[in-house]
Amino acid sequence: MRKEKLAHTMEFPPAIEQPNVYPLSWHQHTKKLEEIWDASRREVWDPKKLPWDTFDVNKYTWEQREAIAYWWTLLSVFDASAPPVFAAALIKTYEAHEEDAVRRCFFSVTQDEQNHEQMCGMAITKFLEHPDPITYTPKTELGKRLQKNAKWLYHNGARYWAGYKTAVPKYSLAVLFSSFLMGEIAAATIFHQMAAGCTEPVFKEAFRNIGKDEGRHMGICLALMERDYPKIAVEDRALITKQIRAGYLFLSAVLFEPPMEFWDLPADFIQNQRDGETVARSAGFAIPEYEAKKNNWRTAILNLKGALDKYDIPFPAIPEVGITGEEVSDVDLDDIIPVF
Ligand SMILES: [Fe+2]
Ligand SMILES: [Fe+2]
Repeated sequence: MRKEKLAHTMEFPPAIEQPNVYPLSWHQHTKKLEEIWDASRREVWDPKKLPWDTFDVNKYTWEQREAIAYWWTLLSVFDASAPPVFAAALIKTYEAHEEDAVRRCFFSVTQDEQNHEQMCGMAITKFLEHPDPITYTPKTELGKRLQKNAKWLYHNGARYWAGYKTAVPKYSLAVLFSSFLMGEIAAATIFHQMAAGCTEPVFKEAFRNIGKDEGRHMGICLALMERDYPKIAVEDRALITKQIRAGYLFLSAVLFEPPMEFWDLPADFIQNQRDGETVARSAGFAIPEYEAKKNNWRTAILNLKGALDKYDIPFPAIPEVGITGEEVSDVDLDDIIPVF
């Protein structure tokens, strides 16, 4: 902070050092973003106002309760990091003196993600009668195995947050948007599936609302890409390719199954999770089966590829779901920015 007083030495103050958080300007260039902002105001919803009166936790066995709570916990590993992730991105849009509607759109994403996180918390607390899946005492054998999984997921999520904090200042907004887009495509995909398959009214409605939010978030990223990618820097293209591969590895944990070379997880993790999912499905909680997950994830990635191909950005190889492309091998959590 500059302590020295200048006002008595010059008529006008000196130029302000950048980046500085104050834009003090409200430029409007991208009409699409203004429309998305308006939609975000119309579509605001409140997790507390869902039809909770129709939800009776006692119709589920303890095994089912712990299995469904585990799925919400897995989701929270991604969704509970989203409010601070987007709050950091929101600050970056102010520092970059982004147009007014971009700043508001990122504000709306932060608010939406807070809702999604709140929803995770409400579901977990109702099922477990405890507000914290890590300190909860499991009641069944499956519950114990799933809690061990949850602890390892949380350990990985914490590593990711440290990487994100150092990555955000390093990258341009253009690179960040491609990572965000990957997360939003993944999120929109999973919530539409869950909304279609779930039988519990309160979850069905929550998933429908969350899916709609994620669709808007996707729209924000696409509008920004359309605005910025035709003139994107050459070095940013290569970074985007790498970030998409990182996004695949990171988001596979919730969309598909976690790739073991990237995630730090015990050998029984996948079996525990599969067993939990089988029990959750038996209770009407429609987690897609292995092949369906794989197909859905592949389709989502191909949609992203379609968006990036327009701007001649090389797409990474994702052999896990049968997509060929540029080989990307050196992905680690220290410089990862994918979000959900
Ligand atoms: Fe979300
Ligand atoms: Fe989102």
